[in-house]
Amino acid sequence: MAMILKERDNAHIRRHNAMKLLDQIWKKGQDFLGVRYPIISGAMTWVSDYQLVKAVSDAGAFPVLAGGNMPPDIFEAEVDRCVQNIKSPFAVNLITIAPSYRDHYEILRSKNVPFVVFAANFPKKKDVTDMKEAGKKVLSFASTDSIAEQMIRFGVDGLLLEGSEAGGHIGHVSLMILLQQVMFKVGDFPIFVAGGLATGQMMAHLLLMGAYGCQFGTLFAMCQESTAHPRFKDALRRARARQAIETPQYDARLPVVAVRAIKNAATQQFGRIQLDLLARLESGQITREAAQFEVETFWVGSLRRAVVDGDIESGSLMAGQSVGLVSEIRPIRDIIRKLTEEAEAQLEKVRKTFRDLTD
Ligand SMILES: Cc1cc2nc3c(=O)[nH]c(=O)nc-3n(C[C@H](O)[C@H](O)[C@H](O)COP(=O)(O)O)c2cc1C
Repeated sequence: MAMILKERDNAHIRRHNAMKLLDQIWKKGQDFLGVRYPIISGAMTWVSDYQLVKAVSDAGAFPVLAGGNMPPDIFEAEVDRCVQNIKSPFAVNLITIAPSYRDHYEILRSKNVPFVVFAANFPKKKDVTDMKEAGKKVLSFASTDSIAEQMIRFGVDGLLLEGSEAGGHIGHVSLMILLQQVMFKVGDFPIFVAGGLATGQMMAHLLLMGAYGCQFGTLFAMCQESTAHPRFKDALRRARARQAIETPQYDARLPVVAVRAIKNAATQQFGRIQLDLLARLESGQITREAAQFEVETFWVGSLRRAVVDGDIESGSLMAGQSVGLVSEIRPIRDIIRKLTEEAEAQLEKVRKTFRDLTD
């Protein structure tokens, strides 16, 4: 009996110490974001609405409202709802290539929003500076080492280093390479990592490598509180990692930002759309800019069909390779509890490895 009690005590002490380890290791992320868990629920157009933002915030993590392609008045109303009802820090995402970007930018600048996340093409230096002068902390995506360097030069407060494993619009460099090219080189600069993440074990190792925290997209798109259509969530739940494919670019004359989505009729249709646009480009019927705009309009429309209408065949099932790691639709609190428990156990394992080595 005494042995059992002692073992239980030891397990309790181990859990307590490991929790202390996790809290110590991500303290800089907690301080930077101002939340209990430096776990970011990445912005997802049509998915990261007020309801998801509120639920993530209530669970103690850090949400990002997706600006997407919303008409400016709706965007302003969503931002106001967050400002009025969300008591802990959160961010709003601005897509620099969205048609309403300038309007979104000006609306956001005047609002009491603590963080702004720039996505798509990188922002102009002045956009970063003005947003900071308006009292916001600025984060920007970086999908290559040169973008990361430029964003740091532009004065962003932190980076979202996102590997090509991620869902949605992506770069071409994997997180494995970006960690070595950027995180191991920049010193103590706030870096949050994203792309293909869904476990606490991985989160623990990324924190050990120096990350301030991790951003998850697909994992939160599939949570119980997400208003995404049940068929969308179920399609992601059933998908395997290898089904989350990257769209190709057929010709350098029509540069398209790659998208990672689960293979279906929409990913195939994108091939046909590119070929059609290239033919029109060649015959002078359309400009390159107009063709690129059509491409983006296609993605926004087809993502809506999948997320809002539940059309999982011709709608776009944007998701990261992380779909292969998520097989349940769970409440956000469970997701966060599992991530932190797994991270704690992993840190304890690392500590034991070192203890065994030095004993
Ligand atoms: C359905 C979907 C829509 C997305 N839309 C956006 C967006 O509007 N803005 C943005 O910055 N990132 C967007 N992302 C990227 C996520 O914020 C996040 O960085 C990415 O999903 C991380 O990779 P993971 O899905 O493997 O976790 C989207 C991702 C998905 C899956």
